[in-house]
Amino acid sequence: MTKIISFANQKGGVGKSTICLQTVFHLQEAGFRVLAIDLDPQGNTSSRLSQQEGEYTGTPSAFLFREDYTDIRPMRCARGMDLIWTEKNDPELSEIESMPLNCVLNPINNLKASGILEHYDYVAVDCPPSLGRKLVAALTMSTHVICPVQVSGFALDGVEGLLNTIINVQEELNPDLENTGMVINNLNRNFPSHLRACEQLREAVPDLVYTAEIGLRGKLDEANNLGVPVWSIKTTSARDAAKDIRAVINELMEKVG
Ligand SMILES: Nc1ncnc2c1ncn2[C@@H]1O[C@H](COP(=O)(O)OP(=O)(O)OP(=O)(O)O)[C@@H](O)[C@H]1O
Ligand SMILES: [Mg+2]
Repeated sequence: MTKIISFANQKGGVGKSTICLQTVFHLQEAGFRVLAIDLDPQGNTSSRLSQQEGEYTGTPSAFLFREDYTDIRPMRCARGMDLIWTEKNDPELSEIESMPLNCVLNPINNLKASGILEHYDYVAVDCPPSLGRKLVAALTMSTHVICPVQVSGFALDGVEGLLNTIINVQEELNPDLENTGMVINNLNRNFPSHLRACEQLREAVPDLVYTAEIGLRGKLDEANNLGVPVWSIKTTSARDAAKDIRAVINELMEKVG
């Protein structure tokens, strides 16, 4: 069965696209058939995977929300994975937030009816940073969700809302959705406040926090900007970053099966 994994948090800049992108690279290199779906109108994952912003071909992700739209044609990226993309600030994708609530069912219904899911082992869905229709649609189409979080400042404040959204989707729309948990990103182990926040989070929801943590890794940011796997950069600091991200991906894969 195709595993569909959402990378979700309504908070911006916590590492959704970074972890999504590196997971897609990892799965592709491991020989799996991978589809990435970019539901964030910022289009970060699309531009990094396609390496040709502005020259997309095939189906944009906004079309998934249309009624009975089954002619879905993902774009093949240079590295071999497929992509249902969004161009930066696509107005149709932004307008989905004002569509009737039941539009959240269209993407999964369309994907199933089109038959394309059978072509993939894994689908990775990059989510936008808000608790809206697109996030609910992503959770509704997914078998699993992973939530990148940061422990700095007020970044944990929205976590409860996110967990409630996931529970609501499980109860109302998608009983098969499994929450694999929260992964702490951008952790600075020299900051006592970070360590305290980690501890508090692990105490509050012990079953919902990944064992693996990702430190503040400049090379991850660099790899992201270049649109390459961080392990393709051959420096010591990139190796440390790769070790962090690979530990998270391995844990995710254990949970997803
Ligand atoms: N562990 C890390 N170390 C260093 N930089 C990181 C790390 N994780 C993410 N970044 C950088 O932080 C920025 C935000 O990350 P990213 O775009 O993945 O977050 P996001 O949750 O997808 O954001 P948005 O909500 O805007 O889509 C990016 O520039 C990314 O390269
Ligand atoms: Mg993002």
